[in-house]
Amino acid sequence: MDARVREQDNSFSRWSQRQRDRVEQALSAWLVADAPAGLGEAMRYAVLDGGKRLRPLLVLAAAEAVGVTEEGAGGSASLRAACAVELIHAYSLVHDDMPCMDNDVLRRGKPTVHVRFGEAQALLAGDALQALAFELLTPTDGDIAAAVQANLCRLLACAAGYAGMAGGQAIDLASVGQVLTLAQLQQMHHLKTGALLRASVQMGAACAGDVPAPVMASLTTYGNAVGLAFQVVDDILDVTASAATLGKTAGKDAAADKPTFVSLMGLERSQAFAQSLLDQALVALDASTLEPQRVETLRALALAMVRRDQ
Ligand code: IPE
Ligand code: IPE
Ligand code: MG
Ligand code: MG
Ligand code: MG
Repeated sequence: MDARVREQDNSFSRWSQRQRDRVEQALSAWLVADAPAGLGEAMRYAVLDGGKRLRPLLVLAAAEAVGVTEEGAGGSASLRAACAVELIHAYSLVHDDMPCMDNDVLRRGKPTVHVRFGEAQALLAGDALQALAFELLTPTDGDIAAAVQANLCRLLACAAGYAGMAGGQAIDLASVGQVLTLAQLQQMHHLKTGALLRASVQMGAACAGDVPAPVMASLTTYGNAVGLAFQVVDDILDVTASAATLGKTAGKDAAADKPTFVSLMGLERSQAFAQSLLDQALVALDASTLEPQRVETLRALALAMVRRDQ
């Protein structure tokens, strides 16, 4: 590794660590422990102390790419958006793990929420996390302009609902035991995982208020490519990694007879496909007309998301 690459690597890890700490603190403050009848404890358990926090990092990196600074206008919006996306993601994991869906007992290295707190409380914790996400995006203190609030809510709602994560999860459950075409599999992954990752990028950029349409289009292409790549890598790791590394059960896609990129095209072609999506994402950043140093963090994040081992 040459000195310049090493320096970029170090600065990306410093940036990531700092942003993860900010997000962790903010989430912990917003997730009150004393919600009724133990619900707060279940919500905190679902969100805190675990997870790679990639979606918040994408929000914050995209916001920085379009000129949003921590202290300046948009800084409060980007932190709230980062936390809101993570709350939707955490809720999706709580429900994904329930017996009526993937029936998983391990998540982020801990027993799943329904194992620890019971199914009804897990269902409610997911519901309440989803609602809290939208509460975070709509503060009444004047910190975020009304138009920006509305835009952030719309982007997140579309990514979480029938045309995004929930729709993709419905296809996932309906596809057990089926052989999907490549186009059908891509569509499922685009919705169940890609939509929220793409929305993370779009929401970060939306914190700046008005973003030129070509810049938004390039960032959207980037978000779509890394979003799909991320689930392809998730399918690969389900086969190649251990539960100890993943913090969740390994080998469960084949055990549950789920169609995945690995089941459809094998390991090597799946890896090559993830790499080609990464290339597409990087090309989109180059085409964005943003200065190269502005998109350096988004570039590093794309690499980290595809080359990860957990
Ligand atoms: C896991 O997401 C579920 C998918 C959408 C593939 P992550 O791999 O981002 O999970 P955490 O947040 O790091 O636990
Ligand atoms: C889940 O996909 C996607 C979500 C919307 C939560 P998976 O079912 O493959 O995620 P893991 O492998 O359990 O994390
Ligand atoms: Mg699932
Ligand atoms: Mg699952
Ligand atoms: Mg998986």
